[in-house]
Amino acid sequence: MLILAIESSCDETSAAVCEFNGDERVIRSNIIASQIETHKLYGGVVPEIASRAHCDAISGITYEALDTAGVTLGDIDAVAVTSNPGLIGALLVGVNFAKALAFANNKPLIPVNHIKGHVAANYYIHADLKPPFLALVASGGHTSLIKVASYTDYETVGRTRDDAIGEAFDKVGRVMGLPYPGGAEMDRLASLGDNTAVKFPSAAVIGDNLDFSFSGLKTAVINHLHNSEQKGESYSKEDIAASFTKAVTASVVKKLGMAIDSTKLSSLVIAGGVAANSHLRAALEDFAKKRRISFYMPPRSLCGDNAAMIAAQGYYEYLAGVRADTSLNAKATGK
Ligand code: KG4
Ligand code: ZN
Repeated sequence: MLILAIESSCDETSAAVCEFNGDERVIRSNIIASQIETHKLYGGVVPEIASRAHCDAISGITYEALDTAGVTLGDIDAVAVTSNPGLIGALLVGVNFAKALAFANNKPLIPVNHIKGHVAANYYIHADLKPPFLALVASGGHTSLIKVASYTDYETVGRTRDDAIGEAFDKVGRVMGLPYPGGAEMDRLASLGDNTAVKFPSAAVIGDNLDFSFSGLKTAVINHLHNSEQKGESYSKEDIAASFTKAVTASVVKKLGMAIDSTKLSSLVIAGGVAANSHLRAALEDFAKKRRISFYMPPRSLCGDNAAMIAAQGYYEYLAGVRADTSLNAKATGK
């Protein structure tokens, strides 16, 4: 079957046409219009600007996705759309556009959770990946450890109690003068620095839980930078990026170890924008090898927000019988 998917939860307008046939999944098109250049001017995503930019882009992006896939709306079997979580104004643009498209063309409409979508990006390239598994979704807006019992049953077993992991990368980058979003540049700088230069605190919440707190770690790095500036001392951005990244990866590895122990799962999946981080990828590969568990990560091109991931999850929701009617609404939070 062919699914047309729409994603507009944050600062990327995306549409994709993907084909599913049993366990065969093919991305026929995956068009992404990034708004980053606009939001860069403000140092972060401005929600109203994001909504307006989605309005401008969504129709053109969708027809580009159909054209690139070589199909027309008539060939599509179902429309999938991100319905939550995300920026509410941004989500509403995608949800209403998808509703109009689906109901005017008599196609089933499938609401998709954005977090589940990130995880589902992995299905395109890992033919052997099947639930159950443990997933770490690490992005600009989310940090969750999830027990994936089936393609559609997710149980969040750990989460951040404050900042998301990508948010911490971006905020530290911003204080060092990196353009928004700083995550990818932090990754590059960290490869050039000494990760033992500064010892930063852990982001793993102490105790018998699977939660993180990236706010304390972020504040420790920012305080360190301010202290250096006040003393008139220069600092190495590379060393700070490397030391911060080391604290992040060690925290993630610690909680993943506890999660594998408690869930007894033998497969680990990472997903989300921060899953593109080369140091995190290497640390988790090493972790999985030592723990003798299977490890899956998406290619970098499918880590950030994109509609193909929404199509993949949409397919499994469709098989499970999930359908939306004309009352479908967007939700900023939740499952
Ligand atoms: O999944 P995503 O595109 O959007 C959300 O759903 O939030 O993730 C964006 C986040 C940003 O915080 C960005 O800085 C971060 O992913 N990111 C990275 C890297 N590439 C993107 N963080 C660390 N290292 C990277 N290589
Ligand atoms: Zn995302």
